[in-house]
Amino acid sequence: MESKDPRGDAPSEGFETQAIHGGDLDDPFRALTSPLYMTSTYTFPSVEAMGSVLSGEREGFVYSRAGNPTVGAMAALVARLEGGEAGVAFASGMGAIAAVLFYLAKSRLPLIVSRHLYTGTRHFVSEMLAPLGIPVKEVDLRSTEGNFGEFREALRAGAGGVFCETPSNPSLDIVDLSAVAALCAEWGVPLAVDNTFPSPALQNPLRQGATLVVHSATKYLGGHGDLLGGVAVGSAEVIRKIATVEAPLLGATLSPMNAWLILRGIKTLALRMEAHTLRATALARFFKEQSAVVDVRYPGLASHPGHEIALRQMKGSGGMLSVVFEGAKPALSFMNALRVIRIGVSLGDPASLAEHPATMSHRGYSARERERMGVPEGLVRLSVGLESPDDLFGDVDRALRSL
Ligand SMILES: Cc1ncc(COP(=O)(O)O)c(C=O)c1O
Repeated sequence: MESKDPRGDAPSEGFETQAIHGGDLDDPFRALTSPLYMTSTYTFPSVEAMGSVLSGEREGFVYSRAGNPTVGAMAALVARLEGGEAGVAFASGMGAIAAVLFYLAKSRLPLIVSRHLYTGTRHFVSEMLAPLGIPVKEVDLRSTEGNFGEFREALRAGAGGVFCETPSNPSLDIVDLSAVAALCAEWGVPLAVDNTFPSPALQNPLRQGATLVVHSATKYLGGHGDLLGGVAVGSAEVIRKIATVEAPLLGATLSPMNAWLILRGIKTLALRMEAHTLRATALARFFKEQSAVVDVRYPGLASHPGHEIALRQMKGSGGMLSVVFEGAKPALSFMNALRVIRIGVSLGDPASLAEHPATMSHRGYSARERERMGVPEGLVRLSVGLESPDDLFGDVDRALRSL
C-alpha cells in the first residue's frame, strides 16, 4: 500500500526535523518512538467493515503484503525527504528496482538504461527483461558526453522509460539530472533515478525533474549494516499503481521490523552523510597525492569530470569513492593490508568497507566489458565509514606504504 505523510499537512520543516519527526504515527499513548506493527494481517468487527476497506470507502489495512502502518510510515517519510508525493517500500533495493522496471516495461516500448549502473540492475535487465522480449538500449549518460548523441537517438526511436544512477556504482560517474530530465520531458518519457549513493540528504532527483526515485534502504537510509530494504518514490498516481500491482504481486515485501529500523536510521541521516562526506573528501585528497594511485574517482574533487554538475545537483559529495591502482595486483595488496577498513560488499554503514569489483561484484564480466563500464582491474571502491579520521588515514597510509 502506498503511503502519504501520516501527519497530513505538517508545516514545512527543515530536512533534519522532517527526518526525526516525519515518520511519526498517531499513537494513543503518545509514545516518542512510533509503534512497530509486527503483524501479518488485520481483523474486522464485521464482514461489511472489511468490505468497506477493500472497496476503498474507508482507510485501513487488510494484509501486510499490501500495506502495514510501520512500513507505510517509512515509505512516506522517504517520499517527504525526496520531495515526492508518495512512496512504496520493498524488501530490498532490488525489489524496488524490479518493480519500477516492470512498471516502465508495461509500455511495451524499449527501456533506455545508463551504461554506468549497479550490477544487480544490469543483471535484472539482461536476465529478466531481455528474455521476456523487452528491448533495452544501453547509453552513455555521463555529463562528460555533453551532447547526449546516443541518448537523443534512443529517445527518438521511442522509449517507455529511462533508468540511471548518479553517482554511479562503482565508477562514481555523474549524470546531469536536469539535462537528462529535460530531454525525457521533451519526449514524454518517464525518468527513474537510483539515488542510493547520495541518499535524500544530498540529492533529490525529483526536484531536478525525475519521475521516480529508487533507493536501496540497505545502505545509508538504514545506515547501520543490519538490514535489507528498498523504497520507490514518485507522484501519488504512479506510486499508487506500483503499490497496488507490482509491489504486492512481486512479493518483495519489507518486514515491519526492518521498516522500523530504517525509520530509526533516517533520524540521523543528515548528520551521518555530513560525517561520511568530510572523511571521504579528506581521504580522496590524500589518495590524489599518492604515487601508487593512478586515479581517484570522487565527485568532490575538482579533477572529477562531473565535478561542476555534482556541485550543482548535490549538497555534498557523499561517502563513496573509488581509487584506481595500476592493475589488480597492487589493488588487492592494498586491500589485504587494510586493518580498520574491512573487505566486503555493501556500503553506507558506520564501518568502512573496501570492495574490488573485478574479483567481487563484477567478476561475471570480461575485462573488456568492465572497462566499458568504467571499472578497470585496478579499481578499489571504498565506502568511507564513520571511524575516527586518524584511524582511517593511518590504515590507508600503512596499506599504501606496504605496496
Ligand atoms: C546503487 C545501488 N542500487 C541498488 C542496490 C541494490 O540494493 P539491495 O542490495 O538492497 O537489493 C545496490 C546494492 O548494492 C546499490 O549499490
